[in-house]
Amino acid sequence: MHPDRLVERLSAVVGPAHVLTAPEVRASYETDFTGRYTGRSRLVVRPGDTAEVAAAVRACHDLGVPLVPQGGNTGLVGGSVPGPDGDEVVLSLRRLTSVGPVDHGAQQVTAGAGTTLADLQRYVRSQSWEFGVDLASRDSATLGGMLATNAGGERVVRYGTTRANVAGLEAVLPDGSVMDRLAGLPKDNAGYDLTGLLVGSEGTLAVITRARLRLVPRLPHRVTALLALDSLEAAVALLVTLRRLESLELAEFFTADGLRLVMEKTGLPAPFRTPHPVLVLVECAGRHDTAGELAEAVEHPSVREVAVALRDADRHRLAAYRERHTEAVNAAGVPVKLDVTVPLADLAGFVGDLPGLLAGRARPYVFGHLAEGNVHVNLLDVPVREEEAVTEAVLRRVSQAGGSISAEHGVGRAKARYLHLTRSPTEVAAMRAVKSALDPGKLLSPGTLLGSCPPSPTPDR
Ligand code: MLT
Ligand code: ZN
Repeated sequence: MHPDRLVERLSAVVGPAHVLTAPEVRASYETDFTGRYTGRSRLVVRPGDTAEVAAAVRACHDLGVPLVPQGGNTGLVGGSVPGPDGDEVVLSLRRLTSVGPVDHGAQQVTAGAGTTLADLQRYVRSQSWEFGVDLASRDSATLGGMLATNAGGERVVRYGTTRANVAGLEAVLPDGSVMDRLAGLPKDNAGYDLTGLLVGSEGTLAVITRARLRLVPRLPHRVTALLALDSLEAAVALLVTLRRLESLELAEFFTADGLRLVMEKTGLPAPFRTPHPVLVLVECAGRHDTAGELAEAVEHPSVREVAVALRDADRHRLAAYRERHTEAVNAAGVPVKLDVTVPLADLAGFVGDLPGLLAGRARPYVFGHLAEGNVHVNLLDVPVREEEAVTEAVLRRVSQAGGSISAEHGVGRAKARYLHLTRSPTEVAAMRAVKSALDPGKLLSPGTLLGSCPPSPTPDR
């Protein structure tokens, strides 16, 4: 195919200004947020609405050109950037930012895939509603990417992952046809749950263009507490008590090493006079004051010190110790990021085994979502030649414990080769069958999830 034919077809759909071919303009779409994954695209196309997405996908389909849908490019597993060969088109959904009126009766709203989480939050809060999913990357993460990866984040303990907060969606299939499931019917058992299938499919089955989101009431009383403990075992024991609180919204953990790095890279002051091995961030929210019940719960023998905040600015200051981990780690280097779930009973054992598994080949920082056993293993200073061995050692340990090699970031390009550690041959075959049925030409996100394409580390690291 002559390259100009694709440019001509796409320009006719979106206008020449939204077909980006110059390498310097494409660059920011070709490297992800971590700086770890970089690729080369044929071009970047930026459609402005669903009809334009459909026409752009159809053009790629007709010409046999693979494409990678991209939202805020905040993904952490290389799923939002093209492969190394320069034959994929990046389909940026960032212009799809329209948000419809809140449907107060249904408790739902329809929003475009390019809407950032922060913009959605501002809008629904102004109408006394809340979206149940929240993430530290809220200012850049877009709804399309959150749906594609079934993002989890900080409030899963109360509201579930993105899938649980989506009532329907609109998507463009690989041949350019449009599937509209935006009615948001709470009861609809007529056939397969296609919305549920596309959420978490990492752009491999369809391009999500709009979502019908469930909303939850905005709760006026919020209290945040930072707790200091001696060990992760103690944190897991405390969780048993915290879970009984109806108002529990969030239970996160990090360690003394991570706290030290956050303070060093952000300038935040120490939260306590003495250092403690483990920190747990807890938030409760309700229609009535929840501070009393939280205070009672944290009067637990394992809690050494407590900092409590009620005013928003103070609550955000406490949350920053946990939320700014990603930024602090990125400021210290380009990490190998392994996002895993282990059964809670094994959380402390898993983290305790890391030094042995790493055998001095990395500087680990662990933090994450306590309530789900979701550990973000961030590894700095891993020699390039050891990256694969270190990754495999950690993921094998997770698999032996009955955990998952991807808790909430997805499989992307980074973990495609390790999928077999967490999914049986029968499951992988079923996934491949679904992929072939919907995308027989393997045009959508070809290197992601089921792709055999190895991750391509940024060359000049
Ligand atoms: C987090 O929980 O902070 C995010 O998943 C980001 C990360 O793992 O770096
Ligand atoms: Zn996370």
